[in-house]
Amino acid sequence: MERFDAIVVGAGAAGMFCAAQAGQAGARVLLLDNGKKPGRKILMSGGGRCNFTNMYVEPAAYLSQNPHFCKSALARYTQWDFIDLVGKYGIAWHEKTLGQLFCDDSAEQIVAMLVAECEKGNVTTRLRTEIISVERTEDEDYVLQLNGATVVAKKLVIASGGLSMPGLGASPFGYKIAEQFGLKVLPTRAGLVPFTLHKPLLEQLQVLSGVSVPSVITADDGTVFRENLLFTHRGLSGPAVLQISSYWQSGEFVSINLLPECDLDAFLDEQRNAHPNQSLKNTLAMQLPKRLVECLQQLGQIPDVQLKQLNSKDQQQLVETLTCWRVQPNGTEGYRTAEVTLGGVDTHELSSRTMEARNVPGLYFIGEVMDVTGWLGGYNFQWAWASAWACAQAL
Ligand code: FDA
Repeated sequence: MERFDAIVVGAGAAGMFCAAQAGQAGARVLLLDNGKKPGRKILMSGGGRCNFTNMYVEPAAYLSQNPHFCKSALARYTQWDFIDLVGKYGIAWHEKTLGQLFCDDSAEQIVAMLVAECEKGNVTTRLRTEIISVERTEDEDYVLQLNGATVVAKKLVIASGGLSMPGLGASPFGYKIAEQFGLKVLPTRAGLVPFTLHKPLLEQLQVLSGVSVPSVITADDGTVFRENLLFTHRGLSGPAVLQISSYWQSGEFVSINLLPECDLDAFLDEQRNAHPNQSLKNTLAMQLPKRLVECLQQLGQIPDVQLKQLNSKDQQQLVETLTCWRVQPNGTEGYRTAEVTLGGVDTHELSSRTMEARNVPGLYFIGEVMDVTGWLGGYNFQWAWASAWACAQAL
């Protein structure tokens, strides 16, 4: 039986960072993972360049039943702290739109940095490890039965993530441990995920697969995102859709403005005055991709007329169609392609200062396993770093 000060389950973003910080502070840490490589989601993230944080991190960018929970950790370990660490490792980065920071070269650099940080903290890492059972003894030790070994520690950190992308090792392990120790787990669902569409609409829009347009997308609860929308062969995707999917509930609609940068009414009036014989289709193709205009015309949404023939009632109808397109998704692509899992371990059960379970001394939850989910754009990794850092201070 090997003894450690702390055992961290999950060598993902949160687990590696927490193990490294605690190890560097002097704790004897064991880091366990069921996969053969650490940081598998980091390697996949940001199209292989890892969107590791965001310049505009703020609590309002996180969904949770307890919106105040994330404030303390985000304030104590900020995006600037992580940018500083990335800088110390000489990792070049750049800002894309909306404050999103990506590696210039590869996400592998972030994983290599976290591995180096763990080595600096003398963390013992065991990959391809199955955790068969977890028990808490009367002496307040956590005893973990692994395939081939038994390990013990006074502190157990669960950093096993959510359910998205089961192919990358995702498992309900964290939720099961929470329930074993009497903590409430809130219902989970896929977030940051593409929408699927009902059959007639899907078939009509399939010709648009690959077309991307700027959009403003609004959920029934009033949440709004201004980002690109992508038509796919399964439905709708792109950053606008991924963002709004976290605010969408089954059966609800979303409203889509396909022309957020144009006052369509004024544009049509102006074009009618200048070119009355111009077709409506060609006029709209000045503002929207031609394939989209052609598709909407075939669907009867855009009349086949010259501008001079477009009466004001039809113009109003057209403006409504293009700026307030109401779509009722059939569902989402689910955990198979979702970037995150909404819900999870109820934060009311945890200390926002240390991430320790209020009623189970020595048991901690960090990262995505708990009910804190960020927007697309580096917010989820920043939560992983910040919650891990807060926890590590207590180990
Ligand atoms: P994470 O999932 O990273 O790690 C959990 C670890 O626990 C895994 O290594 C897993 O193998 C291990 N594990 C699970 N069950 C286990 C068990 N039973 N026994 C042992 N080990 C177990 N976010 C962002 O901010 N910027 C981005 O660019 C992206 N991009 C992105 C792309 C894709 C494709 C996905 C799927 C997700 C993203 N994300 C993202 C989200 C981000 O990856 C996610 O929020 C963090 O990785 C969460 O970090 P955690 O450490 O909590 O879990």
